[in-house]
Amino acid sequence: MKGGWGRVFVPQLLASERFHLNVIWFESTGGLMAVASPYSGVEILLGVTGGVAAYKAADLCSKLVQGGGLVTAVLTTAATQFIGATTFEALTGRPVYGDLFNPQEHYRGEHIGLAQRARLMVVAPASANYLGKVANGLADDLLSTLALTITCPLVLAPAMNNEMWRKPAVQRNIERLRADGALLVGPSSGWLSCGQVGPGRMSEPAEIISAIEMALRS
Ligand SMILES: Cc1cc2nc3c(=O)[nH]c(=O)nc-3n(C[C@H](O)[C@H](O)[C@H](O)COP(=O)(O)O)c2cc1C
Repeated sequence: MKGGWGRVFVPQLLASERFHLNVIWFESTGGLMAVASPYSGVEILLGVTGGVAAYKAADLCSKLVQGGGLVTAVLTTAATQFIGATTFEALTGRPVYGDLFNPQEHYRGEHIGLAQRARLMVVAPASANYLGKVANGLADDLLSTLALTITCPLVLAPAMNNEMWRKPAVQRNIERLRADGALLVGPSSGWLSCGQVGPGRMSEPAEIISAIEMALRS
């Protein structure tokens, strides 16, 4: 049977979300069949660090869940200054983690249990501080310890002020993270919450999802 696969925007189904479905079409019948996203049924750790772009992490989380992703959110202490755990609890239907100690689920260490079940970890936004810690193997909270414990792909979406992004120390960390096998997505250039225009803006959720799909394929 002749046909193919691709992606279509389905306004009737998901008008508010501008979301795309993977579809297979059949040339003979003109039929369309929706298929699961590449991350459907996949255990995804979503890390959120302290920056204004944390609000976009809620959108990313929602889209991953809509695509069938089994998402667990881990927030740094600084992230909770920007967005609440309640949002991610509601979006994921799961507890939200942040404490290295006082385990909620894994009594051999939350960093062990969460890492063992993860098929992919994405951190969005990834702060300069977090990137620096991961690049240098530091593990002083749950999210940075997870970066050392996971055996799955790591996708990082940096977001910060343009001057922070340009600093040699940050660029060194980025190069080291790439060399260590992390998949970096963005940042893009544009309006920053500090009122400046330049590089440092977190990639949009759709771009991060494309990076996640790529990481899962590799
Ligand atoms: C209003 C405000 C916005 C901030 N935005 C960012 C940001 O976008 N990127 C960043 O790297 N740090 C940003 N910071 C600084 C981080 O929150 C700070 O470095 C923090 O220690 C990061 O902790 P974490 O990496 O554990 O989440 C911001 C701080 C404030 C007060």
